[in-house]
Amino acid sequence: MIVAIFPGTFDPITFGHLDIISRASKIVDKLIIGIAVNDRKNPIFTSEERLQIIRNQLKVSNFQNVEVKIFNGLLVDFMKRENAKINIRGLRVASDFTYEFQMSCINKKLDENVETVFLAALEGNQFISSTFVKEIALLGGDIEKFLPSEIARLLITKLNQTKH
Ligand code: COA
Repeated sequence: MIVAIFPGTFDPITFGHLDIISRASKIVDKLIIGIAVNDRKNPIFTSEERLQIIRNQLKVSNFQNVEVKIFNGLLVDFMKRENAKINIRGLRVASDFTYEFQMSCINKKLDENVETVFLAALEGNQFISSTFVKEIALLGGDIEKFLPSEIARLLITKLNQTKH
């Protein structure tokens, strides 16, 4: 049974992430979306909120072999706990490569059983990032091009709450 992890902050999850999830789920037996707690990024949604948002979205998208979990600490330790040997990463633009290459080498050094598999982001998703989506939402722009409308509404509500 091939188990893979797709780790990230997912603050919030976007169409770019959902595309990677959809494609990765077709090449493994079980895909676990790993929500990194990642306080350094100062996320707008708590990890519990991100868990709920992604869980609801998985139901909407009807992914059968995909789960979502929160993890703290090192990715390789989470992978070991989940019996996962594959780390899925999306590559968008050339500038992602240096950082992703470095991370995959470090993870390999930390645990030689871990393999990182890169999926190239679809053309239309190559420029999406959660930070840009939050900035566009804050400035009143249309974010429904970048993420499902239900999540867009939650983000706008959350941003309005935190503004005051
Ligand atoms: N489509 C759309 N957006 C994408 C994307 C895709 N396919 N792939 C990445 N992104 C976006 C993310 O939304 C994120 O945007 P943001 O910075 O504006 O929030 C950005 O690209 C960077 O993504 P990424 O590099 O994947 O960062 P991340 O925060 O999503 O995840 C972890 C990084 C969680 C995988 C990494 O920090 C980690 O493994 N942490 C655990 C601790 C650990 O083991 N550290 C040692 C690892 S070397």
